[in-house]
Amino acid sequence: MPTNHPDPTAPSPSTDRADSAAPSPSNDRPGQAAPNNGADLTAPGAPADHAPPDSHADHTPPNGTTHTRPATTAHPAHVVPPAPVRLHDVTRLHRTGAGETVTALDHVTLDFAAGTMTAVMGPSGSGKSTLLHCAAGLDRPTTGDVTLAGTPTRDLDERALTHLRRDHVGFVFQALNLVSALTAAQNIALPLRLAGRRPDPAAVDRALRAVGLSDRAHHRPSRLSGGQQQRVAIARALITGPAVLFADEPTGALDTTTSRVVLALLRGLVDDHGQTVVMVTHDPAAASWADRVVMLADGRVIEDIPYRCAAETIAARTAAAEVSA
Ligand SMILES: Nc1ncnc2c1ncn2[C@@H]1O[C@H](COP(=O)(O)OP(=O)(O)OP(=O)(O)O)[C@@H](O)[C@H]1O
Ligand SMILES: [Mg+2]
Repeated sequence: MPTNHPDPTAPSPSTDRADSAAPSPSNDRPGQAAPNNGADLTAPGAPADHAPPDSHADHTPPNGTTHTRPATTAHPAHVVPPAPVRLHDVTRLHRTGAGETVTALDHVTLDFAAGTMTAVMGPSGSGKSTLLHCAAGLDRPTTGDVTLAGTPTRDLDERALTHLRRDHVGFVFQALNLVSALTAAQNIALPLRLAGRRPDPAAVDRALRAVGLSDRAHHRPSRLSGGQQQRVAIARALITGPAVLFADEPTGALDTTTSRVVLALLRGLVDDHGQTVVMVTHDPAAASWADRVVMLADGRVIEDIPYRCAAETIAARTAAAEVSA
């Protein structure tokens, strides 16, 4: 399995990655609707408002989703705001324990536009997690450039990179990385504490309510279901109101009903708050909630569908792309 290999060549991303979901002292993101600042997370449980296209709908036109776009006060409608995340010609090599080199990302160039939801798909080992980690500033490309919130990250030292992440990025990890000794509420408040901010209990309550876990505030992860843990991880990533939320298989371990709650929550961040969501998934039904589907194989982008598709369409395109890759 591909994750968590020790890699002596890798730069040293923080081991406690809860800090990536860290606070946003300034709210001056160009092109963004007012960020939620942890105070107004979208309530889950309203899939009717955010549901994906049905199985017969093929797609909406590029950039023309069925959802209401958030008002972008800083940019008139005809001006496209700058993408909060840009990867230019990014390659990431990993050295394995056996002394071999694995090309996890191979000359990837992608922008993730403000106020959009992108699904990243591809077979196991195709580079999806590596893409998210590089895009979020948790890992550094071997070659190529990542720009986060308008700041090129290449020459930033670890401290500056950490601050950039804290200001702009939330990350939900494939392995959720909840701290087992802390309650749900304490886990959610952790990014604020790591940033030296005193968590506002009311904001933590609102975050818990937004993910439907008000009655689980004092439960430790071991006393929560997989879906509940997933929702705690999402609330923790959102408590700071990040411009960009990266989520690595946020519905991978969830049943269909709980998946819909989580996907509606993510969709609402985009539609109601103008946040940008980049989500890894293996599931065409989950990807059908996204405005765009990017498919990877062997570290390369093999398909980039810039509009919303039904799950059947995505499944067919995935199969076709993998055959021709
Ligand atoms: N730290 C590491 N050291 C060595 N190889 C690594 C490391 N991390 C990832 N890889 C390799 O890089 C490739 C891409 O891994 P990555 O985790 O990005 O894949 P993925 O698409 O997320 O897979 P999955 O769907 O299984 O999560 C794989 O071949 C993996 O084995
Ligand atoms: Mg992965």
